[in-house]
Amino acid sequence: NHHGTHVNGTGGPLDERFTEGETSETLTNRQGHPVRDNQNIRTVGNRGPATLENYDFIEKISHFDRERIPERVVHARGTGAHGYFETYGKLGDEPVEKYTRAKIFSGAGKQTPAFVRFSTVTFGKDSPETARDPRGFAVKFYTEDGNWDLVGNNLKVFFIRDAMKFPDLIHAFKPDPVTNRQDTERIFDFLSQTPESLHMITFLFSPWGIPANYRQMQGSGVNTYKWVNKEGTGYLVKYHWEPMQGIKNLTQEDAEKIQAKNFSHATQDLYEAIEEGNYPEWELCIQIMDDHEHPELDFDPLDDTKIWPEDQFPFLKVGKLVLNKNPENFFAEVEQVAFGTGVLVDGLDFSDDKMLQGRTFSYSDTQRYRVGSNYQQLPINAPKKHVANNLRDGQMAYHVDSGPKQNPHVNYEPSVLGGLKEANKRPHPYQPNVEGNLQKAKIDRTNDYKQAGERYRLLEEWERNDLIQNLIAALKPAHQRIQTTMVKHFLKCDEDYGMQVANGLGIGVRSENGSYHLEVNEEISPSNGSLPKHG
Ligand code: HEM
Repeated sequence: NHHGTHVNGTGGPLDERFTEGETSETLTNRQGHPVRDNQNIRTVGNRGPATLENYDFIEKISHFDRERIPERVVHARGTGAHGYFETYGKLGDEPVEKYTRAKIFSGAGKQTPAFVRFSTVTFGKDSPETARDPRGFAVKFYTEDGNWDLVGNNLKVFFIRDAMKFPDLIHAFKPDPVTNRQDTERIFDFLSQTPESLHMITFLFSPWGIPANYRQMQGSGVNTYKWVNKEGTGYLVKYHWEPMQGIKNLTQEDAEKIQAKNFSHATQDLYEAIEEGNYPEWELCIQIMDDHEHPELDFDPLDDTKIWPEDQFPFLKVGKLVLNKNPENFFAEVEQVAFGTGVLVDGLDFSDDKMLQGRTFSYSDTQRYRVGSNYQQLPINAPKKHVANNLRDGQMAYHVDSGPKQNPHVNYEPSVLGGLKEANKRPHPYQPNVEGNLQKAKIDRTNDYKQAGERYRLLEEWERNDLIQNLIAALKPAHQRIQTTMVKHFLKCDEDYGMQVANGLGIGVRSENGSYHLEVNEEISPSNGSLPKHG
C-alpha cells in the first residue's frame, strides 16, 4: 500500500509523485518534504543552542503537543470493532414491514455495515475495565438511508428518568472534586434521594454490574423509541441485544483478581477473539407496544427505570450483529467515533421519553466540542451514501459536502441557479398529536420499588449474596442518615433485601403492623461518614 494506512480506505493523500531518491517508504512531513534527519534538531554546532526555524522539529513536536482531544465526559474508556447487521425479516410471525418502514429491517438476509463501541461510564480513558459500572453498547449502522445510531447500555434500565438529573448523577459517581477518588458515600447520598434508581442499583451492585467481558454481555437501548410503518402508524419499541456467546458476570472478588494483573482485559478479549476469527454475535430483539399511555400498566412505558415484562411483551428477534474486523487505528475510529440518539432514519422515531429527549441534545453538542464542529465528515462518522448540503466551513472542514452537479456558488437553498433541492416528501409522515400544559413535573406512575424487589427475588443466590456484600461495603463508610434511608428503600423493595443490608450495617429492624422501625445501635454502627460537613 503506497498511501500508508487510510482508515476505512478513504482520506489521506492519493497522489503518488515522488521527488528524487524517494520511495513510498520515505518519511515526509505533512507538507510533503522528505525528512532527511529525524534524529537531531538543528543547532549551532553539535552541542547547541537550537534555532527557531527548526521547521521539521517544530512541526513534529507541536503536533505531538496536540495529540489528545478531550476524552468523553462519560464512557471515556472503551473499545470498538466493525461488523455488519443482518436482517431476519420477521417480527414474530409477521413481516417486520408491518411495523416499520425503516429499510434496514426489511426483507431477510440483508446486511448493513456497522461499527460498535463498548465502554465503561465513570472513569477516564485508560481506567480498569473491571469497574463496577454500566457498560456502554453503542452501534452505528451505515444504512442505505444514512446512519442510524443505537446508543445503548448493557443493563436494561437506568438510574433516573429525567435528563435534568444526569449531570448530578454523573458528578456523584465521578471522583470527589477534592480527593479525586470515587466515594460511595457521595454516590448513595445522591441515590438515597433518587428512589427511582433502586432497580438499577439492584443490578449494578450484583455481579450484573461487572460483565466478564464485552462479548458475553447483553445490550439494550434502555430508552423507549418508536417504529413507524408505511401508513404512518407509530409503535413504542424497546431494543435488546442478546449475546450468542452467553452471558457471564463477575463477583467483586473475581474482578479484583483480574484487575490485579490486567486492566484492559475486556479490550484484549474482544480484539483477540476477532483476530482469531471467533466473531462475536448478538441477536437484536424488539419489544413492541401500541403507541399510547397504557393506563392498564402499573408503570409508564416511557419510564427508563422500568423493564417491560417479557411475558406480556415478548422479545421478538429481528436480526443479528456480527463483529468481524478490528479497527486499523484506535484513535481514528474508536476515539473519534460519535454516536447520538438523534441519529435515526425514516421508520424509526423518538418517543416522548424525557431522558431520550435530553440525551438527543447532549450527544451532538458534546461531539462538536470533543471532536470538532465537522466531526460528521470524519470517515468513521460519515454515512456510506450520498451526502450533499449547505453546511460550510468551521474548524477542520475536510471537504465541501456539495453534490456532484451543485453550482459551487450556491451554498443556500432554495435557488434556481443550480443549488441542492429538498428530497421528496414522504406520503405518510408520522404526526402524533400532543397536548398538555407546559410544566416541570414528574410522571404519575413512578412505582419505584416493585420491579427492584422482583429483580432481587429473581437473582440467583450467589448473585444476591454478592449484591448484599457489595451494598454493605459501599454503605459502611456513609453517613448514618444515608444508610437508614437506603435501608428503608430496600425494605420497600423486598423485606429480606432490607433486612440483609440492615443486618450488615448493624441497623436493627422491628416490624410492627406492617411498618418498620429502624433501631440504630450507635456502638456497632459504622463511622459517621467521611465528609466534613455533616449536619
Ligand atoms: C456517551 C450524555 C444517558 C449510553 C455519552 C456522552 C454524553 C452522554 C455527553 C459522551 C458522548 C461523546 O463524547 O461522544 C447522556 C445524557 C444522558 C445519558 C445527557 C441522560 C439524560 C444514557 C443512557 C444510556 C447512555 C440512558 C444507555 C442507554 C451512552 C453510551 C455512550 C454515551 C453507550 C458512549 C458512546 C460511545 O461509545 O461513544 N452520553 N447520556 N447514555 N452514553 Fe449517554
